[in-house]
Amino acid sequence: MAECLIISDGNKNDKYNVLYKQIRSLLDSENDLISNMANISSMIHHTFGFWWTGFYRVSADELVLGPFQGPIACSRIRFGKGVCGTAWKDARTVIVPDVDRFPGHIACSSTSRSEIVVPIFDVSGVVTAVLDIDSEHLNTFDNTDKEWLEKIVAELKY
Ligand code: SME
Repeated sequence: MAECLIISDGNKNDKYNVLYKQIRSLLDSENDLISNMANISSMIHHTFGFWWTGFYRVSADELVLGPFQGPIACSRIRFGKGVCGTAWKDARTVIVPDVDRFPGHIACSSTSRSEIVVPIFDVSGVVTAVLDIDSEHLNTFDNTDKEWLEKIVAELKY
């Protein structure tokens, strides 16, 4: 069992390693934020086969839907609401192993079972957007995802 877990984790790390290099290369040749968010959401989404992968951008007291891959999603999320609004309010990554156990979870799709939301900071340390990834399986995200996704979004220039 432990051996399986190690192999599986190594695989995830390998995928993120390749993905990170691809994203670095993308960002070296393009500096438009929306364009880069669009391609990054596609790269992450198709590397792992997630249910929904996308960005929400801060606009006044709400998050507004940005580039994404997957089914139609909620357009606006208020500060502190749902997983995205909580990650924004607390300015930290939130991992939800089971969305049914997260009070106030906003169910854009009943297929989503677990998720991770990673805040994106500007140069002064203010949250300006979040990366939201949903899985159709329970317990999809762990510290490996957190570390790599934080490293990825830190490359986005705000
Ligand atoms: N589940 C999110 C809402 C966004 S959708 O899943 C794309 C939340 O509770 O913040």
